[in-house]
Amino acid sequence: MTETLAEKVEAVERTASPYHFAMVEPSEFDVVYEINPWMATTDRPDRELALAQWRTLVDAYRAYGHTVEIIPGVPGLPDMVFAANGGLSVGGIFYTAKFSTEFREAEGPLHAEWQKANTSAKVVEATFVNEGEGDYIALGDRVLAGYGFRSTIESHRELEAVAGREVVSLHLVDSRFYHLDTALCVLDEARGLVAYFPGAFGDESRATLERLFPDAVKVSAEDAEAFAMNSVSDGKHVFHAGAAREFGRIVEELGFVSVPLDLSQFLKAGGGIKCCTMTLRD
Ligand code: ARG
Repeated sequence: MTETLAEKVEAVERTASPYHFAMVEPSEFDVVYEINPWMATTDRPDRELALAQWRTLVDAYRAYGHTVEIIPGVPGLPDMVFAANGGLSVGGIFYTAKFSTEFREAEGPLHAEWQKANTSAKVVEATFVNEGEGDYIALGDRVLAGYGFRSTIESHRELEAVAGREVVSLHLVDSRFYHLDTALCVLDEARGLVAYFPGAFGDESRATLERLFPDAVKVSAEDAEAFAMNSVSDGKHVFHAGAAREFGRIVEELGFVSVPLDLSQFLKAGGGIKCCTMTLRD
């Protein structure tokens, strides 16, 4: 007899793992250049509202038992609030970001310095263009990696060598979902459960995802456009864009606790919850 989804879900007890995050204060956040389809310098964010939304996210993480390190914002770097792009912390190393655009170039060395001063990770300087956790998602003994818009395949291969883990290259083909963390998210790291928007990936990469994650949740274009895939999950609580209503229902059906949040001001820069969050794994 085959189990129904409800029966399958009931057997799974969702447990939260405490995470250690680093986030950059949005004191300098703004939209003054356009480097992705979400950004329009004619539609700039409301600074006060942005700060309030960001604080709500920090408070939510802390309320659910996570540790959040706060990195101050740096004048002249309006996108630095998107901490996920600052590098990749995995298995004791910190692989530095090397940004694809000059607007954000200075963020890489700043994050590397912060890691040296505040973590035990061994900082490994990247030779090739990559935008850190924006395109790299550590999952079990693999790292899922996006390319096509920002990070390069050369960087994937370099990371594979320095981290000693299999790096699975995934081709991003829709410019609205220009970083992997806008197209795919991990719901349960321990069980290897992910969610993704199939339309963001090229055919071959979609086939790879089908093969690696037969149980994955596939989200609708509507949810993806609401930035549903820019979620953070601790294995029990899923911090996600409140506008992604269907996704909220799906995670609840799967036994997770939906924690809807509004990061509307950051979406004006093409960012969301996950973009604002760097995971420390030192
Ligand atoms: N405006 C930023 C950029 O285009 C947004 C970065 C979003 N970060 C992310 N991890 N997806 O670079």
